[in-house]
Amino acid sequence: MSRVLWHNARLATLDGEQGWGWIEQGAMLTEGAQILWVGEASQLSPELAEGTLRRHDLGGAVVTPGLIDCHTHLVYGGQRAHEFELRLQGASYEEIARAGGGIRSSVAATREADESLLFKQAARRAKALMDEGVCTLEVKSGYGLSLEAEAKMLRVARRMGSDLGLTVCTTYLGAHALPPEYADRQDDYVQAVCDWLPALQAQGLVDAVDAFCEGIGFTPAQTRLVFEAAKRLGLPVKLHAEQLSDQGGTQLACEFGALSCDHLEYLSTEGIGAMARSGTVAVLLPGAYYFLRETKLPPVHALREAGVPIALATDHNPGTSPVLSPLLMLNMACTLFRLTPEESLRGMTVQAALALGLADRGRLAAGLRADFCVWDVEHPRELAYYFGRNPLLQRVCGGKSSRD
Ligand code: NIG
Ligand code: FE
Repeated sequence: MSRVLWHNARLATLDGEQGWGWIEQGAMLTEGAQILWVGEASQLSPELAEGTLRRHDLGGAVVTPGLIDCHTHLVYGGQRAHEFELRLQGASYEEIARAGGGIRSSVAATREADESLLFKQAARRAKALMDEGVCTLEVKSGYGLSLEAEAKMLRVARRMGSDLGLTVCTTYLGAHALPPEYADRQDDYVQAVCDWLPALQAQGLVDAVDAFCEGIGFTPAQTRLVFEAAKRLGLPVKLHAEQLSDQGGTQLACEFGALSCDHLEYLSTEGIGAMARSGTVAVLLPGAYYFLRETKLPPVHALREAGVPIALATDHNPGTSPVLSPLLMLNMACTLFRLTPEESLRGMTVQAALALGLADRGRLAAGLRADFCVWDVEHPRELAYYFGRNPLLQRVCGGKSSRD
């Protein structure tokens, strides 16, 4: 396999518990899709470098791990700009949802769209994320809400993984909203969500299982049934938890050893304790917080104090976070949530990998995947500082450069 040397690089490896893992005169050797060696250029042994087929002089640019967007709803039909207008006229997200708009209007559009159109639209969104450095992407279902339509969404997500040159993790979010054909039959719908799971898993479409545990979503008792179905199949769980109110969903998710709990604006002290004990990642979503004009901040300080890993994601979706810029999320995590630039970059690399249960990426270290970004900046803190500027020079996913 061909060895490639990336030299004259300033590396932010993010290896180690804290700090940037900074290497001022760094070099990296990759072989196929893997990192073979990372370190000070002067320390690279000639034996290891032997057989290097290509050398890339990165001109002193900054290299970081490839970005990981660990929470998105990237596949859907239509868009909801009209609801944005309604909210500007005073309607709330919950009111729109209860009146049959919200998630359910995206469900109608997604059911109607054929698979190739869904793919085309989702691929365009994925490319926008990739253009800002995303190498790994999680995509949730949840706008189909029938066995066939959920499968269609998940197939589109899988196809993005095989066709676009990035890793896609799929999450089954059947328990996202109540579809119209189950009106007033919430429990029957939850049963159906559980019943569909084995078939979806058998088709290789599910990496994890999620639910929307909320006043306008599903109760903790219903969420438990979904998690039990996941557990029976050995699938990891995650949860949309405490976004609009404190339902105690976090404690439930932690009972099931959840990979992550996401949103968390209304997270309680008990919830934080449960997360710390189960090693569950807190995924913060500043795009949704901003777009819904929330005022209740997630308890960042307490999460930090408790040692809960904090990840960040776009939560791209047509209703609450139509953002396609991971870099803007780094900035907003600092301006809105008061994360440090280092915490925010770790949130979209090291901790996002944890939130997806992926041990092979998120840092620059020997043996990990060769997923990295080359940036036209002096220091990685600038990635969280600028907004509306994209300094990405090149993205390398699994050893393959966006420039080739
Ligand atoms: O992550 N909260 C539930 N799910 C999405 C919103 C989906 C929608 O409004 O279409 C979220 O914010
Ligand atoms: Fe979400």
